[in-house]
Amino acid sequence: MRILIIHGPNLNLLGKREPQLYGDKTLAEIDSVLNRQAGTLGIEITAFQSNSEGALIDFIQAESPEADGIVINPGALTHYGLSLRDALAEVKIPVIEVHLSNIYAREQWRAQSVIAPIAKGQISGLGWRGYIAALRTLVGELRAESWQ
Ligand code: DQA
Repeated sequence: MRILIIHGPNLNLLGKREPQLYGDKTLAEIDSVLNRQAGTLGIEITAFQSNSEGALIDFIQAESPEADGIVINPGALTHYGLSLRDALAEVKIPVIEVHLSNIYAREQWRAQSVIAPIAKGQISGLGWRGYIAALRTLVGELRAESWQ
């Protein structure tokens, strides 16, 4: 099983970017935690970050046919990235949207996500652990695991 982990604009600055909102882990540290989790789950992940909406779309078009699911933090594109939204609507695999901060507890414009309506679900405000929750949930769903 292969899951794509996609990080949008400005997330390359994690660690030093508004740590009170986004935490002090760098993107490399988050990807490394996800890689360890992937090892535990016995799956493969491919992580990608770009500050450009076009590059994110190119990655999704190229990689999604060979993947089983997507975990994406679209950054500010969450709120207005209609081309990204259309690219994600086109994929045939489940998408989980993740935000480090709680987008509903901040500026009003952040409370709208153009991605959420085409996502399977959204995790917002749980910091880096939100990525782990999204990955585990996606794999559990794809394997149709039950809790019993
Ligand atoms: C974010 C929230 C967005 O509003 C913001 O533009 C980001 C990060 C988050 O992870 O909390 O870049 O997606």
